[in-house]
Amino acid sequence: MLFRPGLANVCFIGGRFDRNQLAKADTGRLGLNKASAKRRAEFMAGRRCAAEALYRLAGVHHMPAMGPKRAPVWPAGFTGSISHSDTHAAAVVARTRDYCALGVDIEPCLAHDRTSALIPALLTADEQTRLTGACLGEQVTLAFSLKESLYKALYPLTGTQFYFQDAQVVAASNGRARMRLLTSLNKHWPAGTEVTAKYCRHGDHLITLVAIAAERTGSGV
Ligand SMILES: CC(C)(COP(=O)(O)OP(=O)(O)OC[C@H]1O[C@@H](n2cnc3c(N)ncnc32)[C@H](O)[C@@H]1OP(=O)(O)O)[C@@H](O)C(=O)NCCC(=O)NCCS
Repeated sequence: MLFRPGLANVCFIGGRFDRNQLAKADTGRLGLNKASAKRRAEFMAGRRCAAEALYRLAGVHHMPAMGPKRAPVWPAGFTGSISHSDTHAAAVVARTRDYCALGVDIEPCLAHDRTSALIPALLTADEQTRLTGACLGEQVTLAFSLKESLYKALYPLTGTQFYFQDAQVVAASNGRARMRLLTSLNKHWPAGTEVTAKYCRHGDHLITLVAIAAERTGSGV
């Protein structure tokens, strides 16, 4: 377990995986016959986390298929999200009576010397003004990862694609973050909507999580 999100009725499963072992897994029935060994291993690692999370949460045996725009297809009554890096995978699952959408991301921290070139693409002008000199790689990775989690939660809910300049992190400290949409995704998710998130550092990785409570309206496209 890499992360304890501290959210009732949310099951997070994550960890390091063995790429060589997972690359041998039978992924044919999941539509990955032609995928590279790396892709098959990452896919299976994420799917195994998802299956384990569903089992621990509800005793359900299920491995989510891949749906439109790559979003995982969860069994009726459940929602969740999957992420993987080269070495780690994670999944988070909840019942739809508790959460209408989840987004998780696990990301290796950017090396300092790779960071500057990525800042204009990943961070809004406002986010850039809040960068401090220390731990630049971690700050940029955190903003990137939070936005990826936001996208994974809100794309299945709204059907609207959005990009790194369409949302920004307005505050992040002590494992809690607040983000704001800068563009309208639909009438329920207008520009200015704020979404909270959680995060933690695990070794050289950052893990971020967005959980949208079920009572939040706006699942209509
Ligand atoms: C979807 C996306 C965020 C995932 O990123 P990634 O670099 O492949 O990294 P991760 O390993 O963390 O996540 C992959 C998993 O996300 C999930 N995912 C992919 N597309 C998704 C979508 N549209 N909605 C929800 N989940 C999605 C899948 O489970 C996928 O794993 P799988 O293909 O093995 O099933 C990214 O590829 C993308 O499309 N980005 C463009 C939009 C964006 O980033 N916007 C930022 C908004 S501010």
